[in-house]
Amino acid sequence: MLHYIGIAGTNSAHSTNRQLIQFVARHYAQDATVELVELGDLPLFYKTADHSVPAAATALAAKIEVADGVIIATPEYDHSVPAVLSSALAWLSYHIHPFAGKPVLIMGASYGSLGTSRAQAQLRQILESPELDARIMPSAEFMVGHSLAAFDDNGDLKDLTLVAQLDALMTNFAIFADVNRQLTAKMTRTADWQDSNH
Ligand SMILES: Cc1cc2nc3c(=O)[nH]c(=O)nc-3n(C[C@H](O)[C@H](O)[C@H](O)COP(=O)(O)O)c2cc1C
Repeated sequence: MLHYIGIAGTNSAHSTNRQLIQFVARHYAQDATVELVELGDLPLFYKTADHSVPAAATALAAKIEVADGVIIATPEYDHSVPAVLSSALAWLSYHIHPFAGKPVLIMGASYGSLGTSRAQAQLRQILESPELDARIMPSAEFMVGHSLAAFDDNGDLKDLTLVAQLDALMTNFAIFADVNRQLTAKMTRTADWQDSNH
């Protein structure tokens, strides 16, 4: 059974991105476990004098390290990823590297019609930075537009075309994670900015 970490890029009590991760966890429970983690406990990122990271970041990093992959559902604020997600990723790349070589599937839900397409493109760019060094699932975008109306009372996605798309994505992500495992076993980390000058 595969094990994924599910991150909703929010610190809001009510979030359609959290709903999306919860739907994924329920809908694919036969194939994988998806553990939803929260970012609300992490302080806003700052560089510490001794390069330490908060306990909440260490705990999250430990979960990511042992997972087969990470699924991130991002909201979109002003065509960008939310500050809480950006800040969390900074902690998770500050002298720790839980995302290095880790398969990541990006998705997102937003109230707008474009369903986080811009935030997703930005998130992809962030995750590809040397200190994060994640392996992002290629050619995969899953966007839930008008997300306030996208789920029924049971929390299931109403649009069955979207669900079929998600089915294929999740199948492909499992294959991607498997191939990636073989690839990273043979590869060496090349880039590190912090050890020299940060
Ligand atoms: C300051 C602000 C900026 C926003 N900018 C966008 C945007 O650029 N694109 C978009 O689709 N929705 C935008 N929204 C609406 C969000 O999609 C919505 O508020 C929500 O955060 C969606 O994710 P959630 O349900 O997980 O919180 C914005 C909302 C706020 C409060």
